[in-house]
Amino acid sequence: MQEEIKEIEKEFLEEVKKISSLKELEVLRAKYLGRKGVLSGFFSRFSQVDVSQRAILGEVLNSFKERVQSVIKDIEERLERTAQEGGELDVTLPGVSFNRGVKHILTQTIESILSIFETLGFVVVEGSEIETEYYNFTALNIPPEHPATEAFHTFYLSTEATTTKNRGLEELKCSPGRYLLRSQTSTLQVRIMEQFKPPLRVVSPGRVYRPDATDASHSFMFHQIEGFAVGEKVKFSDLKGTLFAFAQRFFGKEIKMRFRPHHFPFTEPSVEVDISCIICKGKGCSVCGRKGWLEILGAGMVHPRVFYSAGYPSGKYRGFAFGMGVERIAMLKYGIDDIRLFFENDLRFLRQF
Ligand code: PHE
Repeated sequence: MQEEIKEIEKEFLEEVKKISSLKELEVLRAKYLGRKGVLSGFFSRFSQVDVSQRAILGEVLNSFKERVQSVIKDIEERLERTAQEGGELDVTLPGVSFNRGVKHILTQTIESILSIFETLGFVVVEGSEIETEYYNFTALNIPPEHPATEAFHTFYLSTEATTTKNRGLEELKCSPGRYLLRSQTSTLQVRIMEQFKPPLRVVSPGRVYRPDATDASHSFMFHQIEGFAVGEKVKFSDLKGTLFAFAQRFFGKEIKMRFRPHHFPFTEPSVEVDISCIICKGKGCSVCGRKGWLEILGAGMVHPRVFYSAGYPSGKYRGFAFGMGVERIAMLKYGIDDIRLFFENDLRFLRQF
């Protein structure tokens, strides 16, 4: 019987090699360890064996049983592990698809604009969307009731602002005003200057609000990026150089730029900045209204009155500031003809970028 056991063990080890699934392993387990299996067959023949031999045979049989159990357990563990790890690689199975999202085109535009200014030494700061009349108007040299407030009409909250330390209010005999949703990111200029001394180079992205009726080119909420640099020797030519470097990197090397005189209460002199039309390269087309130029931002040298609001000593610093509308820039760059597309959350539009 001992010889027989040896033979059976050889057979078992051969069979084990062919096992490739848990199902096959179950069949093997039943064959050897099951109630009517090979091992119980041996044990049932025990009574026929000579009494003197029984002890030795018992030992042989038990150790064979242990080996069979441990081999089966090992294979079972190995098969379970491969099942958890995704099994053997089957290149014919269909791939597992997953939805990879993209950042909203406005976020992408904001990020690429900011990263250009970061390489030019600007620091990104975010401001608050709820502001006081003081920072949205007064501090920027737009006195309350002045016609210039027209251009920056916005939404008002009903609470009265309480801060009293804002400079210039005494003189103008007014209060910090009500809270409102900022109508321009320029609010951040004075807030930053109040807290930090020059040299300053700041860019700030964010939402602004104006109660415009919505159409293809207007929205009551849109995004701006504000930028400003303040120091003892900041010149208008620094503004030109900075904006030109930005436009070339963002729109392409061949872009031309022009500065037109304009008026903003918080800059003097003030300009509007155009780039040569990126569609027709300046020849004139429907996108640029046959002018060959596209307006991209407003800018100028920081008005002394703004430095006064910030509490800077008179005449010590100079600076430039600019503000651009992100939607407008994205529309120009990607040929989008309706501002509403940005906010409708239509994935067919958003997935294109
Ligand atoms: N805040 C201005 C606007 O919203 C843009 C601007 C910013 C102009 C900074 C000059 C300087 O139109």
